[in-house]
Amino acid sequence: MKTIIRNAKQLVTCASAGGKPKRGDAMRDVGLIEDGALVIDGERIAAVGRTADILAAHTADRMIDASDKVVCPGFVDCHTHAVYAGDRLNEFEQRIAGATYMEIMAAGGGINRTVQATRAASHQDLLSQSGDRVFEMLKLGTTSVEIKTGYGLDTLNEFKLLDVIDELAHWHYTNDIIPTFLAAHAVPPEYRGRTDAYVDLVINEMLPAAAVWYRRIFPRVYTDVGRWLEPPEADPAYPFFVDVFCEDGVFSVEQSQRMWEAARGYGMGIKAHVDEFVSLGGVTAAIQAGATSVDHLDVTTAEEIAVLAASDTIGVVLPAVNFNLGSHHYANARGMIDAGAALALATDLNPGSAPCYSMPFVMAIACRYQKLLPAEALNAATINAAYAIGMGERVGSLEVGKQADVLIVDAPDYRALMYEFGSNLVNTVIKRGKII
Ligand code: NIG
Ligand code: FE
Repeated sequence: MKTIIRNAKQLVTCASAGGKPKRGDAMRDVGLIEDGALVIDGERIAAVGRTADILAAHTADRMIDASDKVVCPGFVDCHTHAVYAGDRLNEFEQRIAGATYMEIMAAGGGINRTVQATRAASHQDLLSQSGDRVFEMLKLGTTSVEIKTGYGLDTLNEFKLLDVIDELAHWHYTNDIIPTFLAAHAVPPEYRGRTDAYVDLVINEMLPAAAVWYRRIFPRVYTDVGRWLEPPEADPAYPFFVDVFCEDGVFSVEQSQRMWEAARGYGMGIKAHVDEFVSLGGVTAAIQAGATSVDHLDVTTAEEIAVLAASDTIGVVLPAVNFNLGSHHYANARGMIDAGAALALATDLNPGSAPCYSMPFVMAIACRYQKLLPAEALNAATINAAYAIGMGERVGSLEVGKQADVLIVDAPDYRALMYEFGSNLVNTVIKRGKII
């Protein structure tokens, strides 16, 4: 099946040179082609160019007219906690009345409130709720998603979450779902005051089991929703990460380092929640541990921004969190781009700090409060976000050979995606060449 999308008022490729994430001035370049066209052959992009050139060189089974519309890559949400049960509506009101996120957490609420609800929920319940969430994200243009565990916090419940992620990755339209193991999201109630003992449990019991899960259970490449292409014993097609909430009162830098080191021993990628509230030096430590991304970065110092800029690690900022927590302080994303760091954006979708499904809304915040230009926000939400989850070679830009994850947007200018907010400009979502 060959499809041509033609006459796009703007086709923006977000292509990056040299197979690397974008930095500096390259962030201002979205690869704009006026009167653009795109050829999709099966699941992949076969050609990109101006409509006249594409139509002269290609025929198709299906033509889609994108006159007065933008065609761009599907968004990559590179940081979510989409598998959970229950809500945190009461905490929403507590914060309005003046309590802070960390005060609520220290009093036994916060993440552990959701852990209680998630432990009580069945696999089936979690699957159906999180499937709905991922579908909502798809409607808003997100075609690849990273999903973390972290609301189980004991071996059986963390694996319940991994299995839900695995099943979503098999069956969901958004079938590029990258798992991240975040057993070190909080200290569970039964380990209160014994953080080191919990870290030992993560290292000695959970991580080895997660490594086996990844190699033996997690899905391999498949061509269609739910159809195996390779036998289940083949190497997993996707990366697998380990994440740690490195924060004052949660896991220290030293405890985080122990877990990252163990994870690296199993060949897992490394991620870190760092500098959300207190700067502990976690950015430098995570980069030294070989992190693929460091996330949040709300209070990262200029010195550590320089360390990030000099590294291959992607900086992921999550401005929906600041917005949701009613904060007027945002990560210095402008400073990070100016220093030369590779910056990505994500929702951080979770019931506590960011009940947000929308990458366009995140871009809208980043433009206003972090002073990103629309082009920088779009590159941060597509190609750089793909690199933040080890998927930069496959998704995140409209380039020949890449997966055909494409959006048709109801606007003649890509900047409308950030300029408007609270509505959904996504007209058509194409995932692996299929119109969803
Ligand atoms: O990324 N900060 C740690 N973890 C999440 C919040 C999770 C929750 O509150 O349930 C975050 O903000
Ligand atoms: Fe998070």
